Amino acid sequence: MHLFLSLFLLLLISVSIPVSLSANFSTLSITRVHDETLVCALVLRSSSSNTSDLICTHLPSGETINYSSEGGYGGSQSVQYSALAAADDFLCGITPPAQGKSSMIWWSFVDDEDDPFNNKRVYWGPLLSISAGDSHVCGLINGSTLKCWRWQEFPDDITFKTIAVGGEFVCGITTCGIIKCFGNETDVVMNTPQGNFTTLAAGSHHACAVSAAGNLTCWGAGAPKMEHIPDDLVALSLGTNITCILASNGTVYCWGSGATPPESVAREAFVSIEAKGDSVCGVLMKNYSVICWGSQNFEKNNLVFEKVLPGMCVPETNCSCMPMGGSSSICSTEGQVICGPCTINLSNNKVNVPVPSANPPPESPTPGPGPNNNRIRLVVITIGIAGAVLAASIVMVGFVLYKIAKKKEKRRFDLARIDPTTVQQPNLGRPPSLLRRNGLVSVEFTFRALHRATDGFADGNKIGSGGFGTVYWGVLSDGCQAAIKRAHHKRRRHTENAFLSELALLSRVNHKNLVGLLGFCDDRGERILVVEYMPNGTLYDHLHRLPPSDSSPLFTSWTARLKIALDAARGIEYLHSYAVPGIIHRDIKSSNILLDAQWIAKVSDFGLSMARNAGTGASTASAGTVGYMDPEYYRLQELTEKSDVYSFGVVLLEIITGLKAVVKTGEDEEPRHVAEYVMPILSSGDIARLIDKRVPMTDTREEVAIEKVLKMAAQCVRSRGRVRPTMREVVMELEWVLGLCGGDEDEMVEVVLEVEDRGSTVSSMSAFDLE
Ligand SMILES: *[C@@H]1O[C@H](CO)[C@@H](O)[C@H](O)[C@H]1NC(C)=O
Ligand SMILES: *[C@@H]1O[C@H](CO)[C@@H](O)[C@H](O)[C@H]1NC(C)=O
Ligand SMILES: *[C@@H]1O[C@H](CO)[C@@H](O)[C@H](O)[C@H]1NC(C)=O
Ligand SMILES: *[C@@H]1O[C@H](CO)[C@@H](O)[C@H](O)[C@H]1NC(C)=O
Ligand SMILES: *[C@@H]1O[C@H](CO)[C@@H](O)[C@H](O)[C@H]1NC(C)=O
Ligand SMILES: *[C@@H]1O[C@H](CO)[C@@H](O)[C@H](O)[C@H]1NC(C)=O
Ligand SMILES: *[C@@H]1O[C@H](CO)[C@@H](O)[C@H](O)[C@H]1NC(C)=O
Ligand SMILES: *[C@@H]1O[C@H](CO)[C@@H](O)[C@H](O)[C@H]1NC(C)=O
Ligand SMILES: *[C@@H]1O[C@H](CO)[C@@H](O)[C@H](O)[C@H]1NC(C)=O
Ligand SMILES: *[C@@H]1O[C@H](CO)[C@@H](O)[C@H](O)[C@H]1NC(C)=O
Ligand SMILES: *[C@@H]1O[C@H](CO)[C@@H](O)[C@H](O)[C@H]1NC(C)=O
Ligand SMILES: *[C@@H]1O[C@H](CO)[C@@H](O)[C@H](O)[C@H]1NC(C)=O
Repeated sequence: MHLFLSLFLLLLISVSIPVSLSANFSTLSITRVHDETLVCALVLRSSSSNTSDLICTHLPSGETINYSSEGGYGGSQSVQYSALAAADDFLCGITPPAQGKSSMIWWSFVDDEDDPFNNKRVYWGPLLSISAGDSHVCGLINGSTLKCWRWQEFPDDITFKTIAVGGEFVCGITTCGIIKCFGNETDVVMNTPQGNFTTLAAGSHHACAVSAAGNLTCWGAGAPKMEHIPDDLVALSLGTNITCILASNGTVYCWGSGATPPESVAREAFVSIEAKGDSVCGVLMKNYSVICWGSQNFEKNNLVFEKVLPGMCVPETNCSCMPMGGSSSICSTEGQVICGPCTINLSNNKVNVPVPSANPPPESPTPGPGPNNNRIRLVVITIGIAGAVLAASIVMVGFVLYKIAKKKEKRRFDLARIDPTTVQQPNLGRPPSLLRRNGLVSVEFTFRALHRATDGFADGNKIGSGGFGTVYWGVLSDGCQAAIKRAHHKRRRHTENAFLSELALLSRVNHKNLVGLLGFCDDRGERILVVEYMPNGTLYDHLHRLPPSDSSPLFTSWTARLKIALDAARGIEYLHSYAVPGIIHRDIKSSNILLDAQWIAKVSDFGLSMARNAGTGASTASAGTVGYMDPEYYRLQELTEKSDVYSFGVVLLEIITGLKAVVKTGEDEEPRHVAEYVMPILSSGDIARLIDKRVPMTDTREEVAIEKVLKMAAQCVRSRGRVRPTMREVVMELEWVLGLCGGDEDEMVEVVLEVEDRGSTVSSMSAFDLE
């Protein structure tokens, strides 16, 4: 089995991660050298030119240095730069990416004052963003790892979306929206705000961030008391006790002494701003001139450069928001533009719209799999473990040989509870793992890291258990919450197979209705999977275990229940129709449908899953859970997608009736399968008797919708697989039915359009009837 694992890891390694973040680089930088202020920019040679030089101007003397001249890095050739970063002692120029790689050239202002062109290349490779503070520069490299030059080492096991370097600190927003700060500025490092953040800026002694809900927060020494903040912002830049916001209409707002823009430009529109120390510079929208203020050094002359490149030139398709007007004519490469910044709405002035927050971990462990001690009349099942193991091994060969798909974009969740010690004591000195060394970030975890994340796999962190092992709630070192599934029997073959199978599947699927993989651990003989934490637990718990509550949408509206059914159906449809090769889940049940903080349903637990064509041959022993398992599959030992459809039909019946898959209606009654209970009542037309009374019914349209879903569920649990609908048909019907309920308006329009597109299919589908 170890051979498998090694082969498997090798294949994982060969897969590259597509980076979906847009690069953020500045083309304007301010530093202080002795008593002078130095402003550096990429200056266009003339107003009609598309070629720029890296020029620094000393203020107030006006002396300039041309870093693109013969003395610069290029020797006799003039080198084009696409971005820059500067701090007290140095200037860095970044070359345009070639095959995705950029160089960073470093000029020291102090190493040798007689030779301003004393330079070296300090980096060559992929860059995501660069941020310079008062005396340091850091970047996001290798996907999202923080790297700082000529400074101390910071943790390399945290994946950041964005970073900002301040005076003696650096802050970053992790992939799940949490702010982490490191360094000596205790006011900043110790007081980081909690929540879900999207935008960040740092000054000498303070930092500011905007939450996903649009709440602008500043903290640290010199953080301003901000009143009259604009409705939105496109840029945020901080100096020493200075805080500036650029609003989307181009107006600059600054707080701090001397920071207010001078009267002459107060009504002008800017496209970018940069604050550092006591200075603020902005690029005017109308002529791309650089205007600076704040420091006394600008008193004689506000206009520092006549026309600069206001941002980095990139292919137009790389812009997530609008390209700047006319920017294609100033980029030296054909087809490139400068991306305009994206607008972020601020909510501080307004009544706050409540956003659902992530729940703390459940206090008590959630129950494991559904009922298992009952005698079942309708479906009698034994789980063929030996056969499953054999089959899974065959499948594994298929998976290993199959080119594993791209690593998924990580969707992680906010943290309600951050362990403050992780903020103050960054995890330094962790040896880079095999995968990390090969460019995959945050995929392989050490046992130590997961041990720490789960408080030593403490009982209090347990959130569930299953055939594979125990599931723990934990907080990873980047502050992101995760569900950590640890195998019980490390050395058992079926554990190994379930582990490898789930790892293989999870690493090649990526869909918002499937629980995402964050990483794994195969340290010290452990088999651990790290997946997205789903704060709202399982659908099973909400339907059958927890008391109905007003805070649960499952008990407040039918639309919410049907939406959950649709989400889960979409996840399964993706497995059947869009994964290549198609995947059959084999263990669809309400306890494998999880709910995230926004009550979006995701399908989980791929331990039994199989590739569509891997199971051909006689040895596909049936596996699954009592009550959900397709009787035809059990009888014929022939695996098709229709087995998942059967199981999903049972889940639909649970959602509508509120009954478990195996029901015991009376004291002396034999337990019966829910389908067996529902069918006769459905045929008699007494629909109302079947519908879960715990959910209020708002109108007759909802009743019609639920009746349609019931009839479709009945189709799904037909005994002959061939006459069951496909998951695609189930999804279409649920979309249509949700439209009937007048769910979300956007959804409704979408559904109506789809109905028109699909014409006859849908009308025949909506005529679902009993067999
Ligand atoms: C900077 O140097 C380059 C290369 O020598 C030259 O072509 C360019 O004109 C210079 N720019 C300025 C503003 O002096
Ligand atoms: C980034 O990856 C390259 C190889 O892909 C490696 O040489 C380099 O050390 C990595 N840098 C960091 C900071 O992890
Ligand atoms: C770049 O800036 C945009 C906002 O303008 C932000 O949404 C994005 O996360 C930033 N990307 C990086 C890599 O910093
Ligand atoms: C913090 O201060 C110590 C000594 O004062 C220095 O060695 C260290 O580099 C500083 N760390 C940061 C992150 O600035
Ligand atoms: C914004 O965030 C701050 C700090 O996190 C908090 O004190 C404040 O209540 C929030 N404001 C709104 C309107 O949510
Ligand atoms: C910034 O504000 C702090 C108080 O918050 C003050 O001690 C410090 O002197 C100020 N710095 C400058 C450069 O104005
Ligand atoms: C931007 O909007 C603010 C208030 O909404 C207004 O005072 C200002 O003049 C506008 N700026 C520009 C450049 O239009
Ligand atoms: C750009 O506009 C500003 C403000 O109107 C003006 O002061 C400056 O001289 C203009 N720049 C050029 C190159 O004309
Ligand atoms: C543009 O986007 C592509 C694909 O996301 C990326 O490979 C490339 O590096 C980006 N280019 C720049 C200049 O950011
Ligand atoms: C840049 O200018 C040169 C000469 O003026 C011209 O040949 C080239 O096509 C221009 N590039 C773009 C992208 O406009
Ligand atoms: C910002 O608010 C405006 C209305 O005030 C709205 O039209 C726009 O869609 C919002 N933008 C974002 C990104 O939320
Ligand atoms: C955090 O914000 C991002 C971006 O707005 C959003 O996609 C995500 O769902 C939010 N997470 C939580 C837990 O609210």
